[in-house]
Amino acid sequence: MSTAKSDFKRITTNSVLTMKQEGEKISMLTAYDYTLAKIIDHAGIDIILVGDSASNVMAGHETTLPITLDQMIYHASSVVRAAQRSLVVVDLPFGSYQGDSKNALKSSIRIMKESGAHAIKLEGGHEVIASVQRILTAGIPVMGHLGLTPQSIYKFGTYTVRAKEEEEAEKLMKDAHALEDAGCFALVLEKIPRALAKRVAESLSIPVIGIGAGPDVDGQVLVLHDMLGMTHEFSPRFLRRYLSLFEEITGAVKSYVSDVKSNDFPNKNESYGG
Ligand code: KIV
Repeated sequence: MSTAKSDFKRITTNSVLTMKQEGEKISMLTAYDYTLAKIIDHAGIDIILVGDSASNVMAGHETTLPITLDQMIYHASSVVRAAQRSLVVVDLPFGSYQGDSKNALKSSIRIMKESGAHAIKLEGGHEVIASVQRILTAGIPVMGHLGLTPQSIYKFGTYTVRAKEEEEAEKLMKDAHALEDAGCFALVLEKIPRALAKRVAESLSIPVIGIGAGPDVDGQVLVLHDMLGMTHEFSPRFLRRYLSLFEEITGAVKSYVSDVKSNDFPNKNESYGG
């Protein structure tokens, strides 16, 4: 099943720290539903992220902003029911934590209590430190997220590579250390230059998981529907597609339509009573 060097019964926040310390890369993928979560858990994924990318992938919104806390809890509880080995991390959605650490704690408690997830993730640096600290007082593990932070898309205006300039790179480095010092157990770095991601991963003790951040970090995360080729409009440089399910599913559905129209389906063996 898994090709992991360390054979963890259930991946915990401690297991991912051990993986970093032992030089074993951490694998993470998104999932939003029971069926796909069951497959990727069985295949040996270390962390399942119930990302707020569900807003785009599941609901067809242009950004991650519209998804609600109730909707995230619905997706998370479906994934938790499927995950036997993986660590399940859930995104705090836009509007459920920004600018108010009490609200951040309340939202995190709802996610943990109502979905059974194991940790939460939130976007941002110094501006979320008070929230990270308050969430940790309830014993809830927190994953940070820096670089391209899609919940702030309207502040930046584009999905281009972040922290290319020295000033922004230094700010990101400071934020990464602030998140580690506040007690985050891991950090996602999205769409930043490879050299900067390497510097961050080398200077932090906690695992750094990259998406579009190059290979010199402690693990990788992709959106499952993108790596399976179910989505096909979205083709950033960092994305490796392992299947072409858009084409595969289109072909299968076309065959089904044709079989139904021509009365080829169902045949004798697919019918009851001879
Ligand atoms: O919501 C999401 O899918 C994410 C990943 C891109 C890291 O935050």
